[in-house]
Amino acid sequence: MPESLPLKRRLVILISGRGSNMQALVHACRDEAWPAEVCAVIASRPDAAGLSWAREQGIATGALYHKDFPSREAFDTALAEEIDRYQPDYVLLAGFMRVLTPGFVNHYAGRLVNIHPSLLPMFPGLHTHAQALATGVQLHGCTVHFVTPVLDHGPIIAQGCVPVRVGDTPDILADRVLAVEHQAYPAAVRWLVEGRVRLTVDHRVEVDGDPQRLFTEGEI
Ligand code: GRF
Repeated sequence: MPESLPLKRRLVILISGRGSNMQALVHACRDEAWPAEVCAVIASRPDAAGLSWAREQGIATGALYHKDFPSREAFDTALAEEIDRYQPDYVLLAGFMRVLTPGFVNHYAGRLVNIHPSLLPMFPGLHTHAQALATGVQLHGCTVHFVTPVLDHGPIIAQGCVPVRVGDTPDILADRVLAVEHQAYPAAVRWLVEGRVRLTVDHRVEVDGDPQRLFTEGEI
């Protein structure tokens, strides 16, 4: 790690549901002794299942419910205030099911990262596994990317790919993709906290040491 970086990078993870990617990040951060700590897990709904797991791990948690706010902007402003209490270096979206306003995204420019369950730029938005099956692609996967104001778009840090198999349903395919999400997201965040990732002037991502940035699950 370059010497100019502070000892531990501060991470805040945003979730909306079960939080299996959040768990993969927390485990990897601890088990691989990253120069980082997960300071807080914040959910877009108070009943997000992942919150209780995070609490059990001794991680600070918070929740904001969008229905308590008059507008998307008001929700995002409150969310940013809650996040900024923890002074994060990076904000990691891990199954955070809210479209974020440009103001929010720009506030965290270069520090906001998402995982999306498709090989972007294919299948932005929802129901990616059903879309993959409907179109007949034979290769599917996930993408870890910097967030830009355009939904499910932005410079790609890493991808994971899986085969689509005969007889797959959206749920079967989702499980296969999730396994590779749990490889690709921790790997990408590790590069970030080690200070090994940079955006080039033409908005490509470079990673020091040129590691393999494609992860696979199952025989391709
Ligand atoms: C993952 O497939 C993620 O890529 C997508 O939503 C799902 C969240 O799963 N954005 P989990 O909450 O991390 O288990």
